[in-house]
Amino acid sequence: MKERISDLLKRAPGPEVVAAEGWVRTKRDSKTVCFLELNDGSCLKGLQIVIDKSQLDENQLSVLTLINTGASVVCNGPIIVSGGGDQTVEMATTDVNLVGIAGANYPLQKKRHSIEYLREIAHLRPRTNLIGAIMRVRNTLAFGVHEYFNKNGFVYVNTPLISTSDAEGAGEMFQVTTLDLNNVPKTEEGSVDYSKDFFGKIANLTVSGQLEGETYAMALKNIYTFGPTFRAENSNTKRHLAEFWMIEPEMAFCDINLNMEVAEDFLKFIIKKALIECEEDIAFFSKFVEKGLKENLEHVVNTPFAHMTYTEAIEVLEKNNDSFDYPVHWGTDIQTEHERYLTEVYCKSPVIVTNYPKEIKAFYMKLNDDNKTVRGMDVLVPRLGEIIGGSERESDLDLLTKRMVELDLDPQDYWWYLDLRRFGSVPHSGFGLGFERIVQYVTGTANIRDVIPYPRTVGNAEF
Ligand code: 4AD
Ligand code: MG
Repeated sequence: MKERISDLLKRAPGPEVVAAEGWVRTKRDSKTVCFLELNDGSCLKGLQIVIDKSQLDENQLSVLTLINTGASVVCNGPIIVSGGGDQTVEMATTDVNLVGIAGANYPLQKKRHSIEYLREIAHLRPRTNLIGAIMRVRNTLAFGVHEYFNKNGFVYVNTPLISTSDAEGAGEMFQVTTLDLNNVPKTEEGSVDYSKDFFGKIANLTVSGQLEGETYAMALKNIYTFGPTFRAENSNTKRHLAEFWMIEPEMAFCDINLNMEVAEDFLKFIIKKALIECEEDIAFFSKFVEKGLKENLEHVVNTPFAHMTYTEAIEVLEKNNDSFDYPVHWGTDIQTEHERYLTEVYCKSPVIVTNYPKEIKAFYMKLNDDNKTVRGMDVLVPRLGEIIGGSERESDLDLLTKRMVELDLDPQDYWWYLDLRRFGSVPHSGFGLGFERIVQYVTGTANIRDVIPYPRTVGNAEF
């Protein structure tokens, strides 16, 4: 494997000639010497290349004039002690090879660009320090997810992306069809004849892998999914995407209390891993993106999460209703402003809220004895609000069927899901972590559109 710039920067100075490959971030040129800063996305810092122009022939000098910000180059030379600046080593060479030019119209010239502008050039934005660092943290968090579940005996299961059932029962799905929309086949009654469609029935992109995940938990005990999910919700916010990645563990023989313990332990594990392995990037975000981020994350890792029931949360929030855009009372859904009040002002830490009114939660959540609330749990964090949603599942066949009927869901459509309650049913629980939300949280990024390479939101699927 070739050494990357992060490796070269760690090298002890010596005479060995090594290759540095990358893209030019800056070029400083004088009559006698030229400095290139070369970056390959392996770390924030670039490698400084020092070129003694008095050693170059006419041809080499003319190549050098073509090397500008954005150009790709390969330089071969020894790593030496740096003569100045804040770097400790640099490369001294005259062996500079231009691989691909970038003209003056290269959109990422040296000046600072707004995050909104970078979104318009999403194909080039990974070449900036900010997006490069976010993507390295995203990568570390993804590995952390697999590491955590793997070391705790969870089986990684791939649930389908095309689904014929609505996992959240919320009707926010993107339909998948091969029917000719200009010539839709109709039944005798005049409705769309889906028997002619690709799957012979209505199919959608999945909103969650949970239901299929549950079937595997009922066999393998502890499983998790980690894949893309799709929601056609018309919410234009800083924390909603139409296509996002979700991590969904599901555990058999597990109640809501153990579920909360795992959620907290898991979140702390991956945040801690990022703090250790992405130290430099997180220091960068702490300085330029979200002041105090690093201390904030360390505090989260070292403090037990607070716990409240929904009813307690509403009592706290009601006292403060004057300051909310949407005042709350028992029965209303908790929105971002309320979540932030609970975490930032009241608890000053992440908080797990439980026992929500059944009316505002999904059909599969286990009903409490009060017949009014369900064993749902949301993990709320400062700055962002909801990061995890989960629950103990209804494991009683009759109660689950009854709830489906109340919510106008056809139990026939969920026959296989109900089978889990017919054959060897056990208490079981799970949760979903929105992957982009945790990347946002750990990088201090305000807008979710900047933590996924190509964001899909209402009215936007460019690239
Ligand atoms: O609370 P949600 O809707 O729960 C479920 O989907 C369950 N099936 C999870 C489970 O119990 N297995 O979504 C879970 C998490 C949310 O807490 C949030 O972090 C994220 O997914 N999420 C979104 N992230 C980005 N864009 C959206 N539109 C999101 N909707 C939910
Ligand atoms: Mg939720």
